[in-house]
Amino acid sequence: MKILVIGTGAREHAIIHSLHRETASGSAAHELHAAPGNPGIAGLATLHKVDPLDGTAVTALAEQVGAELVVVGPEAPLVAGVADSVRAAGIPVFGPSGEAARLEGSKSFAKEVMAAAGVPTAMAHVCTDVTELAAALDAFGAPHVVKDDGLAAGKGVVVTDDRAAALAHGEACLAGGGTVVVEEYLDGPEVSLFCISDGAKVVPLVPAQDFKRVGNDDEGPNTGGMGAYSPLDWAPQGLVDEVMARVAQPTVDEMARRGTPFSGVLYVGLALTSRGTRVVEFNARFGDPETQSVLARLLTPLSEVMLAAALGKLAELEPLRWRREASVTVVVASEGYPELARSGDQITGIEDAEALPGVHVLHAGTGLSETGELVSAGGRVLSVVALGTDLADARRRAYEGVARIDLKGSHHRTDIALKAERGEVTVP
Ligand code: AMP
Ligand code: GLY
Repeated sequence: MKILVIGTGAREHAIIHSLHRETASGSAAHELHAAPGNPGIAGLATLHKVDPLDGTAVTALAEQVGAELVVVGPEAPLVAGVADSVRAAGIPVFGPSGEAARLEGSKSFAKEVMAAAGVPTAMAHVCTDVTELAAALDAFGAPHVVKDDGLAAGKGVVVTDDRAAALAHGEACLAGGGTVVVEEYLDGPEVSLFCISDGAKVVPLVPAQDFKRVGNDDEGPNTGGMGAYSPLDWAPQGLVDEVMARVAQPTVDEMARRGTPFSGVLYVGLALTSRGTRVVEFNARFGDPETQSVLARLLTPLSEVMLAAALGKLAELEPLRWRREASVTVVVASEGYPELARSGDQITGIEDAEALPGVHVLHAGTGLSETGELVSAGGRVLSVVALGTDLADARRRAYEGVARIDLKGSHHRTDIALKAERGEVTVP
């Protein structure tokens, strides 16, 4: 199959890596294209230049390469309606319409859909001025959770005990004429569950856990995600069934009822709180870095899953098959991330890392220097992914891989999956 993947991150590299594995194992013969892609993806797919936000340009590229499936990775093109343009040209596309992607593009819209569908989530106030904002902060009390209503690339949410900081973030979001969502604080561990939908049927992948804060022990500011692992042996039995029945299917049904069916990945971010399972957020795409860990464990060909979703044929898909092994992903970030990421530093050691059994390295913020050397070009630079017999084994391999990579000033968390390995994750 000719497949075009839109995006530049480690998530898109993970998707391409899985598709390439199908060809390498002889189970399929894909011709892979990516745009804009990155230097890691370039080793597995033909790269093309395109503005990912320009639906007309993406569609023209898909037609030019004869794509039989287009996969739109990131949220911004989805919210901009790029999948609609491709679909209108009659090309199967994995990714929701712009209308359906509002589940991620607007937190207040997501709350409205959850309310209509009876989905358990944090209580929230939608505020449009400072008076409402201040009243909402006082109504819920600390810890304060303040969210920019729109897309903010992982920087829109502040969780803090400091009322002044919460107010300042809310005011900054309001300043541009925006809307702010103030929520009740949810305690308990977080889980990401990716639910594949074709607009009607929903098929869950395996749950993963993400590490959003930049520092060990969840210290420091939120990031796009510093690491992930799967499976979650500590999660309650029946969690996936519960989330399917109470969250994913009702949401997909509600979107269909509104005439804006959701197809693609419904990323359900959950908190397992003392009062039960609650939705923290919806995203309209695969999560990064959880995807790196989840797809490493998927045995069913990913192309079959994505094509079935694109064509409305998920009901015909065989049950998904998974590796028993655990997978751990550690993100290597550049100096200064997430505040001000340095770029242009040389990266070496990737081949050495990949020589380790079960280890592969996915690119995110990488680029090529004028002399053709691999250099850092963003905040989250690489994802080191390892499969192992259990979490301890996968963790050991992932960190051996990280140790073999050299990037001046880089940093990473050293506690990805550590509590889970030690059996220290508990649901309140
Ligand atoms: P979001 O962009 O909505 O996913 O929020 C980013 C992160 O902020 C989440 O993954 C949580 O770690 C944290 N967060 C968001 N909402 C809440 C909440 N209501 N209570 C506690 N933490 C939250
Ligand atoms: N891992 C968090 C996200 O993709 O939004």
